[in-house]
Amino acid sequence: MVPWKDLPPVTPALDAPELLGLIVVALLLQALAVAALAIRQRARAPAAPPAFDVAVAAPSGSPRAAPAWPGTRPWRVRERHPEDPAGTQCSFVLEPVDGGTPPAFRPGQFLTFVLDVADAQAPGGRRPVTRCYSLSDGPGHPHYRVTIKRVGAPADHPDWPAGLASNHFHDQVQVGDVLQVRAPSGHFHLDEDSSVPAVLIAGGIGITPMVSMLDWMVRHQTERPVHLYYGLRHGREHAFSKHLRALQARHPALRLHVVYSRPDETDRLGIDHHHVGHVDLALLQRTLPHGRHRFFICGPAAMMSTLVPALKDWGVPDEDVNFEAFGPASVQRVPSLAGASADAPPDAPVEIRFQRSGRRIEWDAQDASLLDFAERHAVPIDAGCRSGGCGTCATRLLEGRVAYARTPDHDVPAGHCLPCVARPLTDLVLEA
Ligand SMILES: Cc1cc2nc3c(=O)[nH]c(=O)nc-3n(C[C@H](O)[C@H](O)[C@H](O)COP(=O)(O)OP(=O)(O)OC[C@H]3O[C@@H](n4cnc5c(N)ncnc54)[C@H](O)[C@@H]3O)c2cc1C
Ligand code: FES
Repeated sequence: MVPWKDLPPVTPALDAPELLGLIVVALLLQALAVAALAIRQRARAPAAPPAFDVAVAAPSGSPRAAPAWPGTRPWRVRERHPEDPAGTQCSFVLEPVDGGTPPAFRPGQFLTFVLDVADAQAPGGRRPVTRCYSLSDGPGHPHYRVTIKRVGAPADHPDWPAGLASNHFHDQVQVGDVLQVRAPSGHFHLDEDSSVPAVLIAGGIGITPMVSMLDWMVRHQTERPVHLYYGLRHGREHAFSKHLRALQARHPALRLHVVYSRPDETDRLGIDHHHVGHVDLALLQRTLPHGRHRFFICGPAAMMSTLVPALKDWGVPDEDVNFEAFGPASVQRVPSLAGASADAPPDAPVEIRFQRSGRRIEWDAQDASLLDFAERHAVPIDAGCRSGGCGTCATRLLEGRVAYARTPDHDVPAGHCLPCVARPLTDLVLEA
């Protein structure tokens, strides 16, 4: 072998300009090759999970889109079936009477029903009743589904009439019936950002929006860690039991934590339920891995009004806590009304004039909203969600100005206000 130092000197075959030209051509060819490879890889890459593709609402913080349809639309009941052993929670599967594919929505949103309900106390024995029910199945199916819990009279007032709409659904609404329904709406919905693990916390019938979220996640976010905490009393009211286990089998990163507060003797720990007690901060601290989580909570007032502040005390930032109350808002976020509005609430007393009812009443700041105030003084205003999401309470504002605790999800029609989330800033004249 010839030692390298004995090799003849290499005579350059190219002069400097030729060499430079060659280098430029080589670099161009390399750039072309890299670009071609990138295009091929993009073509092969798995498709990004679809966005919710909704016309019903934009992500929080961005401008809101129009509802999927204006006013009400007729939907036919295709099926109904109980979801729990006690039969107190019943699902209603709906399909559009006018055909077509049900418009997309965000998992967690609700429908608003305008029902014609028997009411012995109403003139003529019937009256229209508006109520909201969360969609309990994900978007992208040829149907919508809601699941409704029968509401009895309060335990301390058994003589009061039972819940109007829920009992109407359970006792009167049959397969083939047609219901008038407003488009999906609501700010409480799953986010599309799968980088932060999700924690879904449901109390009782608050499970419905969570089932919708999980249905979407098993199809589009199987990598995203998700914990479901489902609190209820015992196995007889355990809804979606089989369905949740089937979803778990399809989502490798889903952890179920079913919590019974008063298990029956026949309820099996470790099989039907995983914990005894309540879904509280101590349980979350014991069972959640370290790190950031995004919380979605829906349950009875007692659960919400303790858990939401507890999460805040634990250091969870407001932006990671989403919640929905199935009724009058039971959780006050800070800052409340005064901080959320550029206008300060009135110092001097203001007068609310209800034009149609012919009433003038002084606002005494005892009520959380103008709707509560009107109801306390027996001025009728129809309401659905009571949280600014459905538009049912929209009332013409003839004079004066109101403030909102937060920007309502529902677009406030021009010249109107949403009394369920509004308070007065000045004297008001309302068409109610
Ligand atoms: C966004 C949203 C989503 C929802 N999703 C669901 C869902 O998925 N599933 C579900 O089951 N529910 C859901 N709800 C709750 C639902 O809208 C109704 O509030 C619930 O069904 C009760 O309505 P009702 O007409 O049966 O009862 P109501 O007639 O409104 O009565 C409610 C209670 O008040 C009592 N009452 C009767 N008269 C009086 C009186 N004079 N004074 C005081 N109390 C009285 C009744 O006995 C009853 O206990 C949701 C609510 C909201 C806001
Ligand atoms: S009742 Fe739904 S917006 Fe007021």
